[in-house]
Amino acid sequence: MAKETWKPGNMLYPIPAVMVSCGREGEKPNIITVAWAGNVCSTPAMLTISVRKSRYSHSIIKETGEFVVNLTSAELVRATDWCGVRSGRDYDKFKEMRLTPQKSQKINAPGISESPVNIECKVKEVIELGTHDMFVAEVLCVTVDDKYLDERGRFDLNAADLIAYSHGEYFKLGKKVGKFGYSVTKKQGKQHQIKKNRDANENFAIDKKEKKNEKADNISLNNDKNFKSDKKENKHSKKEKVKKSSVLKKKNKRG
Ligand SMILES: Cc1cc2nc3c(=O)[nH]c(=O)nc-3n(C[C@H](O)[C@H](O)[C@H](O)COP(=O)(O)O)c2cc1C
Repeated sequence: MAKETWKPGNMLYPIPAVMVSCGREGEKPNIITVAWAGNVCSTPAMLTISVRKSRYSHSIIKETGEFVVNLTSAELVRATDWCGVRSGRDYDKFKEMRLTPQKSQKINAPGISESPVNIECKVKEVIELGTHDMFVAEVLCVTVDDKYLDERGRFDLNAADLIAYSHGEYFKLGKKVGKFGYSVTKKQGKQHQIKKNRDANENFAIDKKEKKNEKADNISLNNDKNFKSDKKENKHSKKEKVKKSSVLKKKNKRG
């Protein structure tokens, strides 16, 4: 396989495209679409977003040290794109996109009510990387749409029709092709299932063949038996005939 070598560039895809909401006192709340976002620590739960210094949202987040990461679904894809190509300096993005600000639990910045998952974050560190500043933040609270909770309280995030961003385009998530750790869980592995099905089919075929042979054996056995009993009967009737004719001969002699 031949490969081309390119100069350095951002080629890590697919990635999320989230709507980050923020706000400061005395101003309308704002939304910025961010693709350069990621989980970076489990305990404490932490994530990062990288934002260009020139964005209207940059100054808000830097000043307040708060933001909400709102996950995006296929239903929200237009709003996601629009909030990424228009600035809060010129528009009220909540109003334009008919989105509802949702009061947060732990911070002042509002979330987006229409989003299935809102992640409330507090900035811990700002790392100046170059064109972008990376906001390293701790997750203080997560709110989820109870529409995706089942009767046992389990959250089915993948039913929320989330979108991914890859090389300039938005995608719905596709077919599930595995699950965490499935490659080492033999019983649940696809190959194992295929083998199981193949074995079952083979056994079925063998069973069928054996039954067929058994049937054929029974038929030939019965034929054999019938033939023998026929032979016996014939022998018996021959004997009878001989006996009858000798009685008749004796009778005739006497007469
Ligand atoms: C899909 C997508 C992903 C984006 N990701 C980022 C990002 O990670 N960081 C960033 O600074 N800007 C990103 N942008 C651009 C900003 O969202 C855009 O400049 C926006 O208008 C800024 O809004 P504001 O001026 O109201 O803050 C992205 C835009 C789109 C459409």
